[in-house]
Amino acid sequence: MKLCVTGTPGTGKTEISKELSKRLEWKLIPINHIAEDLNAYLGDDEKRGAKILDMDKINDYLDDVGGDIIIEGHIAHEVPCDIVVVLRCDPGVLEERLKERYPDKPDKVKENVDAEILGVITSDAVQINEKVYEIETSKKSIDENVKEIMNIIDGDSQEYRIGSIDWLEEYEEKLI
Ligand SMILES: Nc1ncnc2c1ncn2[C@@H]1O[C@H](COP(=O)(O)OP(=O)(O)OP(=O)(O)O)[C@@H](O)[C@H]1O
Ligand SMILES: [Mg+2]
Repeated sequence: MKLCVTGTPGTGKTEISKELSKRLEWKLIPINHIAEDLNAYLGDDEKRGAKILDMDKINDYLDDVGGDIIIEGHIAHEVPCDIVVVLRCDPGVLEERLKERYPDKPDKVKENVDAEILGVITSDAVQINEKVYEIETSKKSIDENVKEIMNIIDGDSQEYRIGSIDWLEEYEEKLI
């Protein structure tokens, strides 16, 4: 089984995936690490200040790994997976976290908070994957979030269907 844990930067992917990997004893693959190890880059996306990943190379590698794996990262949903879990986070909480992380980069903070308000990762994920679920992480502990992902894996996924988390009403004015 390939499980993807994705979400806007700062939503808790790394911490939650680490704990989930321990609990399930599934191999954890941070997508940025394998991209680096495989040198799976096609060039630079200058507009976004990021590298363009060679997803074919990454997918071939992941197919070879086999078994139960957790693929983690904010572009992990670009990998065809059996289940994708998008971590959502209250934009106010996320803004505080990102401000702390990037005190000198207000544009970067805003870009990511806006993306969370709009649910960009979920929209992207459904273009590539069929089983996409969302969990609201910001009012729960890491442990509780891990349990929610385990519920989804167990097939208890009804309440995590996409569409119920909507930050727009509360945070629309932040988008300006
Ligand atoms: N449920 C939570 N409750 C409180 N704090 C949390 C929760 N989840 C994550 N955090 C905190 O938020 C911060 C960001 O978490 P983390 O690094 O796991 O995010 P990420 O999604 O992996 O970010 P990036 O995309 O930049 O790698 C950390 O300081 C972490 O401790
Ligand atoms: Mg991370």
